[in-house]
Amino acid sequence: MSRRILTTFDVVYKVERFTTVVRSFPDHDPQSKVYMKGTWTPADILPLDGKRILVTGANSGIGYHTALVLAQKGAHVILACRDQRRGESALARLKTNAPGASAELATLDLASLGSIREFARRVLAEERPLHMLINNAGVMAPPKRLETTDGFEIQFGTNVLGHFALTGLLMPQLERAAVSERSRVVTVASIAHKRGRLNFNDLQSTRRYSPMQSYQQSKLADLMFALELGRRLRATGSRVMSVAVHPGVANTNLFRAGERSALDSALRAVASQLIGALLNSDAAGALPTLYAATSLNVTDGGYYGPTGWMEMRGDRVGVAAIAPQAQDMESARRLWEVCETLTGVRFPFRVSD
Ligand SMILES: NC(=O)c1ccc[n+]([C@@H]2O[C@H](COP(=O)([O-])OP(=O)(O)OC[C@H]3O[C@@H](n4cnc5c(N)ncnc54)[C@H](OP(=O)(O)O)[C@@H]3O)[C@@H](O)[C@H]2O)c1
Repeated sequence: MSRRILTTFDVVYKVERFTTVVRSFPDHDPQSKVYMKGTWTPADILPLDGKRILVTGANSGIGYHTALVLAQKGAHVILACRDQRRGESALARLKTNAPGASAELATLDLASLGSIREFARRVLAEERPLHMLINNAGVMAPPKRLETTDGFEIQFGTNVLGHFALTGLLMPQLERAAVSERSRVVTVASIAHKRGRLNFNDLQSTRRYSPMQSYQQSKLADLMFALELGRRLRATGSRVMSVAVHPGVANTNLFRAGERSALDSALRAVASQLIGALLNSDAAGALPTLYAATSLNVTDGGYYGPTGWMEMRGDRVGVAAIAPQAQDMESARRLWEVCETLTGVRFPFRVSD
């Protein structure tokens, strides 16, 4: 009997926790200027022959579908994945779905500055241009606070610091590619940024860890990084563009990642199916990224996402709403300095004051 009560209590607790996660996605902001950009589809992507494109976290979800479509369009795609086995399986799947595609696997663990430096060293040694860097990999809301190899909270360390360091180190290859056409850095943020706050007193959530608040903070920081990168690139007259995107809400492994109890995993699996049915599949979640990476209508420094219900759903990509705190340029400059200090990576450009 007591076992049954415990189990019931457990279920109620888990459901409550799940709805908290769902509720933590932001309400639609009717003031936000979200509008449609016609009916752009991947069929509109011009041939990408000769382009080298790097996608982080390309072994699953949005990253995989981004890599697949770009490869189908003729690009050479580098699938940067942390796990060799999952990476190989994704590469094999990609080659089955896109026969003749040009793609390679590379090992990159964004939760390790050593791995990022080693990865960048290998890419730079090839001395080949990089036309697009898609900062896609991400980790969301592990129940317990986890750390990267370098001791950073895992979401801030992976989603923010990892991509900051990678982008800075690969900037010479991106500059090298920006000859006839501008090269692009696309950073995947989230509508969750709207609930995010940068807690400069405790960016690593050491004093208090809330899984969703740390995720929201990391996604706010991703968006602020992309916007600040754009401002800095423009200030130096660079031909590299920075564009941010969010996928709305899509059925991917993001909701299932991390060590969880069997019940939690089961509930999340059900939630994922619901998300896929009611909101977006993983393939649909890749549309804003594909648009930002390839459309000629993209604005330097723009932020794009689905324009359907509450910005969560839809196959039409348009300008996405940016929360006021993401537009705070003083905080963005401060965040940049923190990222430089924590990663030891300085971007190879000078900002004219
Ligand atoms: N799905 C959504 O509704 C949603 C909403 C808003 C924003 N996003 C963003 O979309 C992006 C893609 O996520 P997804 O939804 O496609 O989820 P996903 O299927 O879980 O993909 C995340 C990818 O990131 C990789 N990754 C995690 N930690 C890494 C590390 N330390 N080094 C290298 N790669 C790492 C994962 O690799 P493993 O397979 O090895 O773990 C996986 O390939 C994320 O930035 C996420 O925040 C997603």
